[in-house]
Amino acid sequence: MLQHRHLLGIEGLSKAEITTILDLAELYAKQNRSANKHSKVLSGMTQVNMFFEASTRTQASFEIAGKRLGADVMNMQMSASSITKGETLIDTAMTLNAMHPDLLVVRHPHSGAVALLAEKVNCAVLNAGDGRHEHPTQALLDALTIRRAKGRLHRLTIAICGDIAHSRVARSNLLLLGKMENRVRLIGPRSLMPSGIEQLGVEVTDDMAAGLAGADVVMMLRLQKERMDGGFIPSEREYYHRWGLDAAKLAHAKPDAIVMHPGPMNRGVEIDGVLADDINRSVIQEQVEMGVAVRMAVMDLLARGLRAKDDTGVMV
Ligand code: NCD
Repeated sequence: MLQHRHLLGIEGLSKAEITTILDLAELYAKQNRSANKHSKVLSGMTQVNMFFEASTRTQASFEIAGKRLGADVMNMQMSASSITKGETLIDTAMTLNAMHPDLLVVRHPHSGAVALLAEKVNCAVLNAGDGRHEHPTQALLDALTIRRAKGRLHRLTIAICGDIAHSRVARSNLLLLGKMENRVRLIGPRSLMPSGIEQLGVEVTDDMAAGLAGADVVMMLRLQKERMDGGFIPSEREYYHRWGLDAAKLAHAKPDAIVMHPGPMNRGVEIDGVLADDINRSVIQEQVEMGVAVRMAVMDLLARGLRAKDDTGVMV
């Protein structure tokens, strides 16, 4: 069980809790490869997915995870909801709350919006990405993918490359990887590097060759054009030339370094399409696979907390 009612970010998780989630996810990964993928862990429970931002893999992944655990899963079409009629996020949440969901999965364009919502409802809230702040299940699925490929999740050199400034994936990852005692390097143009980020104990460079030297893991990020208001990069061509990952740049990393990307990818902008599809180097598809397993594990653990509350009347 987790010591938390919600999963809002990596920030509040201990090293032991991260390991508990990953160990359980490992079991679900195995179950997901078998013919019978169903369990009854969430049976009788209602899971509502509220996505205020476009999402393909994260939403599908949470939906499949909930269904495999036996929950009743509902996807709210937020673009078609009362929000467009002027209702506030909190009013929408309170309305839903009155229908007694058990798990609320929320993605929102504003940093902190999911935590705010969690204060207003009685169910367990899972952050599926809030603005530039956190995307905890992405960092957990990345961690599981790394642990499976490298056999451990400590003392690795991990390069996170690209649009760090706009990336909740980068933030959650550097928090998790730091907690687990890895060496994290951030690589990207200065204009896409948050100021003062060095204070989080990471190395920062704008030089791909230097940053990738000796890396065990190379994690590429999408250029988040929808969060930019112009002027961050000279041109996509220039960006690809300097920071796009291709076989030549990857040669600076360790010979067995793995290549990751949370998706969706801009092929030919931050990563070469052929490299992204190279099953000898790229674990991008495995990341998607581990996403379902990790979300099953997190929802299972949060549901155990909910059931304990049912038994004792108090939330642990
Ligand atoms: C990421 C996100 O939404 O933060 N995508 C994802 O969840 N797989 C990264 C991105 O959009 O680039």
